[in-house]
Amino acid sequence: MDHPIFFRGRRLRKTSALRDILRENIVQPEDLVMPYFVVETDDPDFKKPIGAMPGQFQLSLDQLEKQVAGAVALGLRSVILFGIPQTKDARGTEAYNMDGIVQQAVRRLKEKFPQLIVITDVCLCEFTDHGHCGLISPGDTSGTVHNDPTLALLARAAVSHAKAGADMVAPSDMMDGRVAAIRQALDDNGFPELPIMSYAVKFASSFYGPFREAAESTPQFGDRKTYQMDPANAREAMREAMADIEEGADILMVKPGMPYLDIIHALREAFDLPVAAYQVSGEYSMIKAAAANGWIDGNAVMLESLTAFKRAGAKLILTYFTEDFLRLRNQ
Ligand code: PBG
Repeated sequence: MDHPIFFRGRRLRKTSALRDILRENIVQPEDLVMPYFVVETDDPDFKKPIGAMPGQFQLSLDQLEKQVAGAVALGLRSVILFGIPQTKDARGTEAYNMDGIVQQAVRRLKEKFPQLIVITDVCLCEFTDHGHCGLISPGDTSGTVHNDPTLALLARAAVSHAKAGADMVAPSDMMDGRVAAIRQALDDNGFPELPIMSYAVKFASSFYGPFREAAESTPQFGDRKTYQMDPANAREAMREAMADIEEGADILMVKPGMPYLDIIHALREAFDLPVAAYQVSGEYSMIKAAAANGWIDGNAVMLESLTAFKRAGAKLILTYFTEDFLRLRNQ
């Protein structure tokens, strides 16, 4: 040999035991948050598969309880709830109804599983007839979403979730100033210690397609580009995160996940708040579809994708794979 090879990366990859003790990032059950879709229905047996999201369902309250019971037995630590109300209107009234479907679901889950962390998504889009995340003037089909009048309604929704027993609220609407409005309302209503996980950096993404089927929240006209971020922008992401920190956010979320690992990493480097990543519906659907075709190994890709979030700097991962991950671990 002409020259010695000093660095031999292969030395530490030689056996699986060595690889195990040297692994830098490991996904644990407590890292994962499972999203559930709960439907307001008179049919206690309602369990409707979501076409584009194999393994995911719209669930009645009873079916939600059953599904969660199974997952808790496997080690589920936390959930985030999305609601599908029986009636929608222009002002998203069901979002802040104390007996709305999300509020009922929170009460049910906290009663049956006191240790489970129950997080609620705070937004209007599942509850408005126009499908936008904020208020629109009656008759306006140009899709102009009014920012400031929306804030009071989001705050009401957050307080109603808190009163129902939620452990944390997660505003996903992307109105400006909503974290401050929600923080103030929670404090004024006796919940100064209820954390806010802000969807701080949420992009106007095409990866949300399957979710909108699941949550029945597709905008009836226009799009979300005036409130959700342009996927091209990374510096603006820092500005959004900074605003939410100043307004009182406790956890910063980035959404979607895999196409935005650079943003997760940038937030991790710049700020000391816990960072969460949302591996969204479209990401889940792509992996499931490729796996169903036999094109990839579904479980292996799931684990690799979840590990990538940890490596990028996320502490929490909101993912529809949570139950799959727990099942795999319990095998
Ligand atoms: C509500 C909301 C959305 C998602 C989470 N909260 C949809 C949207 O903004 O259109 C998407 C989640 C997913 O795709 O898995 N605003």
